[in-house]
Amino acid sequence: MVKVKVFDSTEARNSKRKPLEAPPTDAKAFYEVVDSRRSVRIYTDEPVPEEMMRRAMDAALLAPSSSNLQVWEIHWVRSENKKAKLAEYCLGQPAAVTAQEIVVFVARPDRWKANNDHMLRILKANPEAPAKALQYFGTITKLVYNQGPLGFFRPFKYLWLAIRGISKPTPREPIHLGQMATWAHKTTALAAENFMLAVRAEGFDSCPMEGLDSKRVKQLLGLPRRAGITMAVSVGKRAQGGIYGPRFRFDATRAIHEH
Ligand SMILES: Cc1cc2nc3c(=O)[nH]c(=O)nc-3n(C[C@H](O)[C@H](O)[C@H](O)COP(=O)(O)O)c2cc1C
Repeated sequence: MVKVKVFDSTEARNSKRKPLEAPPTDAKAFYEVVDSRRSVRIYTDEPVPEEMMRRAMDAALLAPSSSNLQVWEIHWVRSENKKAKLAEYCLGQPAAVTAQEIVVFVARPDRWKANNDHMLRILKANPEAPAKALQYFGTITKLVYNQGPLGFFRPFKYLWLAIRGISKPTPREPIHLGQMATWAHKTTALAAENFMLAVRAEGFDSCPMEGLDSKRVKQLLGLPRRAGITMAVSVGKRAQGGIYGPRFRFDATRAIHEH
């Protein structure tokens, strides 16, 4: 029989952690934002207030991130010259060409170590930092995310996790650089969705775009080889005809499976 140390919920509920009140929420307002977000391909000339962009980017950074390592970057392309280049590198799509603003969400798997070190510095400067957090960022993340130079540790990690996995539930990924890229893109995509929902909540519109030349976009933004473009997101106000058709989704039974 598989032996696993199972989380003891009674012990946790009786712990000394301070109780946190869950603030009231407005579900109706939330679903209105979700329902009315559409990918807008043509925008009006109405400018987007800078403050709105900043609030939406701050909302993006409130997205959850794996191990809270925040391996995302948001590149807000503001110079007219660069914006025109970016629209060209987004293959001249109307959603980019007519955009008032464009931001690029960038996944930085290569930043995990720097961010981990930054987290440790912040924790060590805080006398009340929980020992568990120090242990997590001091030991566990290093075991999980360090793939060695050019992913050299892969066969060793694979073997170790495969053997461990025979007798107990074991996290299997990420064990190579490709999986590190996926790991960082997941987190970064959540930030992009937060951003788009915030833009809609502010009364503006957006369009996510991965139809772009990632190599040229990376050069334009001065990014290193291992940075990944998760998506560009254009922002503006929907113009007449800017939404190409009614929203279409497959039947939910194709996607939602109950077990
Ligand atoms: C990762 C991603 C990449 C996308 N890339 C493009 C794109 O390059 N150009 C475009 O016009 N729409 C793009 N879209 C928008 C989708 O086509 C759109 O979300 C989908 O058709 C559903 O429509 P809705 O967003 O209005 O609900 C992208 C969406 C996602 C999530």
